[in-house]
Amino acid sequence: PFMTTLDRRTDLARRLKEKYALQDFFIIRGDADDNPELQQALPKLMAEELQKMLFDGAVISVAGGSTMANVGNHLKPVNEHVLFVPARGGLGEEIGNQANSIASRLATAAGGEHKVLHAPDNVGENVFESLKAEPSVMEVAELNRKSHYVIHGIGEAFTMAHRRNVSRETLSELEEKEAVGEAFGYYFNACGDIVSKVRTIGLQLEDLESKQAILAVAGGSSKKEAVGAYMKIAPKNTVLFIDETIAQFLLDSK
Ligand code: F6P
Repeated sequence: PFMTTLDRRTDLARRLKEKYALQDFFIIRGDADDNPELQQALPKLMAEELQKMLFDGAVISVAGGSTMANVGNHLKPVNEHVLFVPARGGLGEEIGNQANSIASRLATAAGGEHKVLHAPDNVGENVFESLKAEPSVMEVAELNRKSHYVIHGIGEAFTMAHRRNVSRETLSELEEKEAVGEAFGYYFNACGDIVSKVRTIGLQLEDLESKQAILAVAGGSSKKEAVGAYMKIAPKNTVLFIDETIAQFLLDSK
């Protein structure tokens, strides 16, 4: 039977919810890799849905990446007092794509407040331990534990590893362990096993379960295996923002 693209997307979302039992799915048309306009459509949809969830006193943990950076272009001012907290200190990304910058942009867009995490990732053991004891760092870590929402992107493992200029050893380790995806510093394989973790102060995987919602975003066929693997670790309170290409892949995969 004939189906409009909107019907098709609603149907895909319904079938995905049945199959994966996550909180919700939002799907845009097409393949975001093919079209820069679609690359904006996903962050826009995420901004709109986040906007509806905000309440007075809401604390939102914010990850980095180029998709997340665009959420700030679409968030509108809110009347409620909201606080954006960087989930990470920075994972070797370009400054505009780091969680600190994005939290600040989101706060400006929404008319809220933000915190800065003065703690770079992947520092040596000693520096890491001293940073963790810094009161301003502890405050942000605590806010990440208690935040109501998390918003984050999902990346393809090797794209992320190269973007972060990881060492030759880390690269071989990721190859050996067949990493396919990455989210907030955790690299995982197709079975959803964590195969490597960036040593970082900030949001940890175990912090996710208690959140009211985790809004995760990824578009483009180049990320389909990454998202497929992420589905194996995604907490039940995840709201996923994807394109039709990924949605179809998730339905077709085991
Ligand atoms: O580096 C931060 C991060 O959120 C990663 O955890 C994720 O894999 C990536 O950004 C996604 O980036 P992009 O939206 O640019 O693909």
